[in-house]
Amino acid sequence: MDYFKEIGEKLSARCGGGELGENFPELAAGVLAEFPVPTDIGIEFMADWALGRERLPEQVNFHSGFGEPPLVVYEEPRFFAEVLHWFHGRTSIHGHGFYGAYQVLAGYSVEAEFSYRRDEEPVPGIQVGELDPRGLRLITPGDITQILPEEAFIHTVMHMGNPSLTLVIRNRGELVQYDYAMNGLGIDAHRDSQTHVRQAQVLCAYHAANPEGFATRFLEFLQAGDAHRLARILKEMERELDPEFLVGEIRELAVARFGSVGELIIDSLTQTIRGNMIWDEVAETEDPAMQLRTSLLDLFPENEDLLKVVGRTFPDRDPADVLDSWAETVTKIS
Ligand SMILES: [Fe+2]
Repeated sequence: MDYFKEIGEKLSARCGGGELGENFPELAAGVLAEFPVPTDIGIEFMADWALGRERLPEQVNFHSGFGEPPLVVYEEPRFFAEVLHWFHGRTSIHGHGFYGAYQVLAGYSVEAEFSYRRDEEPVPGIQVGELDPRGLRLITPGDITQILPEEAFIHTVMHMGNPSLTLVIRNRGELVQYDYAMNGLGIDAHRDSQTHVRQAQVLCAYHAANPEGFATRFLEFLQAGDAHRLARILKEMERELDPEFLVGEIRELAVARFGSVGELIIDSLTQTIRGNMIWDEVAETEDPAMQLRTSLLDLFPENEDLLKVVGRTFPDRDPADVLDSWAETVTKIS
């Protein structure tokens, strides 16, 4: 019998008739725990699963863009299960517009969890506050985490398998979902996203077709619209933009138009771009223990901050020992 279908059907039955209740994350995590992860799960297993059938379940997440790829393996009217494939990289720091549970199936990841204090919302879709890392864990095959809605569960996951696989079971809900930056900036990731994603794509096409005219056109575009649009467009184009252009003319415009919020937007992007470079380095590193060490620099450039959050997560242990034990674990898994 199909592993995913078995899990899905058991959970459907456990949820009973009618709408999902608030206990859905607990139910989903409970059902996941009842099925041992198949020992042979990995890219071969997933390729057999996906390529060996005439029709896949409806890919209800077809436009999500989260996962490389996000393969729907079970769906029913209230919830669906997807296997997210992840190559080296880190997800944004995000809250959740949905709820459910997820389990690592293969590879390994490091998950950082945060609490957020919201101080103000200068324009709809932008929040300013303080983001505080409250936990850091190495998660390995079999580990299950409940996904609570919106600000109740804010995390980022650093993926280090090749690929890592996670099974996510989630409701179809479309609650508000924010992305956060370490500097405390929160941005609604879904608000007007169709417009912003397509506008960013048109700008990228324009850049390819007319590199000389791009800067003028781009700055003209950023002269209109609110701070939320500016933040989302820049985020969508982070791999396209020349860093000098970003910290030069774009920054100037953002600060002139939006003051300190403009500054936070640009700073969060320069952090992401710096992080992307670290991940490029991780992808070129072969030693898993070294990979792990390098990847942690993305979120915690200062070793002191890293030790602090590990100490907070495991108050009874020496943080340096915890990190050493993770290095041993990933060496064994790889
Ligand atoms: Fe998540």
